[in-house]
Amino acid sequence: MLSRLLKQRKRADIQRSLGRDGARPGFEAFRRHLEEKHFKKVGVIGREEREVRIIVRLIEATGGRVVFHHVLSDDREDVGLSHIDQIDQIVLAVLDTRVYRLRRRLLERKKSGKEIPEVIAPSLPYRPLEEDSLFTAIVNALADKTEWDVGFWQSWKSYGVYQLLRMALLHDGECFEFGCYRGYSAAFLAETMEALKISNKRIYLFDTWEGMPSADKTCDPFYGEGDFADTSIECMRRTLDPWRDRFEYVQGDICKTARLQRPRPLCYVRIDVDLYEPARRALEATYDWVVDGGIVYFDDYVSEKTVGERLAVDEVLAGRPERPFYMIGDRAYIIKGVP
Ligand SMILES: C[S@@+](CC[C@H](N)C(=O)[O-])C[C@H]1O[C@@H](n2cnc3c(N)ncnc32)[C@H](O)[C@@H]1O
Repeated sequence: MLSRLLKQRKRADIQRSLGRDGARPGFEAFRRHLEEKHFKKVGVIGREEREVRIIVRLIEATGGRVVFHHVLSDDREDVGLSHIDQIDQIVLAVLDTRVYRLRRRLLERKKSGKEIPEVIAPSLPYRPLEEDSLFTAIVNALADKTEWDVGFWQSWKSYGVYQLLRMALLHDGECFEFGCYRGYSAAFLAETMEALKISNKRIYLFDTWEGMPSADKTCDPFYGEGDFADTSIECMRRTLDPWRDRFEYVQGDICKTARLQRPRPLCYVRIDVDLYEPARRALEATYDWVVDGGIVYFDDYVSEKTVGERLAVDEVLAGRPERPFYMIGDRAYIIKGVP
């Protein structure tokens, strides 16, 4: 109960620091930018009544005079220049494609030698981690259902995987995850399915849950026997209990268990074993079952510590059409059928 309350508080703190209590985070940055401006006679144009009202208050508080304000209300609406001769500045509360028509008209006016007001516009920062509503729903649900809080889940790494899952899960087939440790990535996959309202796919989890069984030091310089032993299948089941009906557990050495699976269509395979031999066996066993458009994701393709995983992937893909796409932060993936 206490940890739940602490987590809720932490989430509220994070949201407050992002400015969610007032307006969207991008808008907050713009508001700060405006606070440094000296206003004269101003027209304000925006997309939401609430945001326009905040801007108007802000301008008035800093000694400016708002001559008009205009809220864009539907897609067809154009931005007029009716007050153009009375104002010195136009403040765009939020960028909107319709506003570009205004810019064009201002340019035409300028070319014909007339005065035009200064345009003050936001830089519109790109913040999908906070503004992609499906992703934030997933992150918040994971924070509620597991012991890890929002900050743990809300990362560019998770966001990259989330984008891949949105593509992979469109296709028929099940999901295989090789290397699960304590279940972070498995929980993320299950909650993404939940958010996408996908109920007809099972997730097969492969691991010893007793640590790595062995490693070949010639191509696995860093990890080896016994690493990642601080987990257990009971720990996995506890963590993944909120999604228990989605999972099948395949316990044992992946070098053996991968090839014992019966063939079935797969839309998503995650390989996160950090070692040459199990990565190779996992990809060899499943490559043919991945449907066209399905995705095989390699969590440690680039890291020097896990060079064995890259060697394995490159060996299996040699002579096959797919080439890996690189993702920021050590990762890569292939899309079946895409060279
Ligand atoms: C980096 S961890 C996986 C992390 C996990 N995907 C996550 O995001 O939480 C690597 C896992 O691969 C497993 N592993 C490595 N080699 C294996 C093998 N030959 N058989 C079974 N599991 C193996 C380890 O036991 C370990 O749990």
